[in-house]
Amino acid sequence: MSHLNVLVVGSGGREHALAWALARSPEVARVYVAPGNAGTERPANPQATGWQPRAAASNVAIKADDVAALREFALEHRIDLTVVGPEVTLAAGLVDVFQAADLRAFGPLQAAAQLESSKAYAKAFMLEHGIPTAAFATFTDFEAARAYVRALDAPCVVKADGLAAGKGVLMCDGADDAEAALRQILVEQAFGGAGAQVVVEERLEGREISALALCDGQHYALMPLTRDHKRVFDDDQGPNTGGMGAYGPIPDGDEALRERIGRTVIQPVLDGMAARGTPFVGVLYAGLMQTADGLKVLEFNCRFGDPETQVILPLLDDSLARILLACIDGRLNETTPCWRDDVCVTVGLASANYPGVYPTGLTISGLEQESQDVVVFHAGTARRDGEVVTAGGRVLSVSAWGVDLADAAEHAYGHIPHIHFDGMHYRTDIGGRKARP
Ligand code: AMP
Ligand code: GLY
Repeated sequence: MSHLNVLVVGSGGREHALAWALARSPEVARVYVAPGNAGTERPANPQATGWQPRAAASNVAIKADDVAALREFALEHRIDLTVVGPEVTLAAGLVDVFQAADLRAFGPLQAAAQLESSKAYAKAFMLEHGIPTAAFATFTDFEAARAYVRALDAPCVVKADGLAAGKGVLMCDGADDAEAALRQILVEQAFGGAGAQVVVEERLEGREISALALCDGQHYALMPLTRDHKRVFDDDQGPNTGGMGAYGPIPDGDEALRERIGRTVIQPVLDGMAARGTPFVGVLYAGLMQTADGLKVLEFNCRFGDPETQVILPLLDDSLARILLACIDGRLNETTPCWRDDVCVTVGLASANYPGVYPTGLTISGLEQESQDVVVFHAGTARRDGEVVTAGGRVLSVSAWGVDLADAAEHAYGHIPHIHFDGMHYRTDIGGRKARP
């Protein structure tokens, strides 16, 4: 029954979670991860029962944006399914190149990936299709943009149009801030070509929700709603990071809200993209804000989120490989993904001084320790002389599940003391409540 060769592209906690879930899929014989991390290599486990990972996984030394080399590898190793983690790989057109070579890859084509790779494209699309979002204006000219924010004279958000690794969004309290942000992006070109155009948006207030949907071009299946914690310190203090942890399903996400998100956001995107001749296949990730004025879209991503994936996939009680293939083949309507009735929390363990400049190459201990209902996903790790060392800002993602949020958080925080590397830090309030010291 196990016959599929699978390739996961990327090297973070999201990709470890993808590789782990794919190794649990009964159809999968072998998982490759390019370039992967120290956690994405594992021997086969023929004794695995139920949904335990069974397939062997190994790393391939190809960078995530080297589409030509990935294509050669996939042809040579007869890869049946390629799953792309990072947005840069989608924006580089991996899915287009793989399709042309008769290879099945999960993710949108380059044209559809513009929903994430160009914020101006996404805003114009939302306006055209009546999808609720913050009021905005788009500029390439600094003087015109400056005149606009001066006239606006209100809190706003200035965003570089293109991909800027999560750093291109600047919150501004008023016109002075906004002018400085515009100067940084349009004049000083702090984000290079990604900042040739800017979007200036009304600044919204409210609670954020990450809504991720599996899409086959026509149909969608919403995954459990999650919430991530972007600030580095407890109580949402300190600078933004790639994400210090997440939890889901969120307690404030009932069926009515899920239905509303599907009807007002996800389905209109699928219909609009199909009408443009670029049907959306892959994960549509809507970053939403619940405002006093209703639900609004902050951004679209065209891929699994990080760290949301480390929460979502442990809740999947189904074959990820089967579901992703159904999306690629346009028959997601024939299957309803099964989810566990649990809650999952993931806590990110970060390097000293992250999100600033951080050291790497530090020994990590305690990884062999196992706890029930806990899985430790690797993010920035590498293997050196047989030991596992730090290799990034976000080092590990400790995911745990339980009957409710408090139970799941207790499992995660109960496991963390086993793990150590110099300077390791993490938030103690993922999921809302402070963990016991
Ligand atoms: P984005 O990459 O567009 O999602 O922006 C990153 C983060 O910036 C979001 O997760 C929000 O926390 C914040 N953000 C983006 N747009 C707005 C907005 N219009 N109002 C308030 N906060 C925003
Ligand atoms: N968690 C935010 C992202 O994946 O973009």
